[in-house]
Amino acid sequence: METIDTITGMQKRSEELRLSGKTIALVPTMGFFHEGHLELMRVGRHLADKLIVSIFVNPTQFGPSEDFEEYPRDMEGDLEKAREVGVDLAFIPAAEEMYPDGFQTNVTVEGISKYLCGISRPHFFGGIATIVTKLFNITKPHLSIFGEKDFQQLAVIHRMVKDLDMGIEIVGVPTVREPDGLAMSSRNSCLSSEERRSALSLKKSIDMANDMVGGGEKDAAGIISAIQALISSHLFTKIDYISICDPITMEDKATIEGECLLALAVKIGKTRLIDNCLIDID
Ligand code: PAF
Repeated sequence: METIDTITGMQKRSEELRLSGKTIALVPTMGFFHEGHLELMRVGRHLADKLIVSIFVNPTQFGPSEDFEEYPRDMEGDLEKAREVGVDLAFIPAAEEMYPDGFQTNVTVEGISKYLCGISRPHFFGGIATIVTKLFNITKPHLSIFGEKDFQQLAVIHRMVKDLDMGIEIVGVPTVREPDGLAMSSRNSCLSSEERRSALSLKKSIDMANDMVGGGEKDAAGIISAIQALISSHLFTKIDYISICDPITMEDKATIEGECLLALAVKIGKTRLIDNCLIDID
């Protein structure tokens, strides 16, 4: 597996690959790999000739009081795992390489960025859209793979690629879960064992909502208040949002009809977790 840490080096390598007729898949990541990341890589490996993984904890998608410094990192372990899963090339730039002095351009996806995570993290999707655009321009992929756990991120990237005619195929991969249902996340490593138990309230909420809908419940407010009660009955939990919304526009839905997204963000102690599922009754 090659590793490259400069933008010009990466662009040159990707250009060579393209000129030799190879298709390129990119898995953009912030590292600290778990099974969810490895699954994205396995999908990418099957869909293209060459698989690039980027590892970069992107400072611009963290707010001033968020966990940028504490975000877990393990470059050596990550490179080992990437090698084992068959990644061809790891792009591992430093922050100064990606954001040199004088940097002043931002990509903003209006509309959908303002809902859900965008309410408590107003800087978040602008930071993501900007870094993902840069990563696309640097690695020149034909396709790029993202996890459905970050459902809104995936929707923002889809919108951006379409609106800016980027010509890159975006592939979503279903959430990978721990045996007890907890959605895999690098942030799970920040949970104490007691918090880890409370973190299960997210998946329990999703299961309960699906049961309620299966039993005929159509009122979004009724489902949301049942989820509120369930999550609040667990220690250390602080709900950021519980939303039942349209999976494309992210606008709230009052009634369960057509395809609906149930999305949750909950702080467990200091650790903010998200989870979601599509509810489709038709
Ligand atoms: O999903 C992530 O890990 C990040 O938001 C991404 C897409 C790598 C951008 O920094």
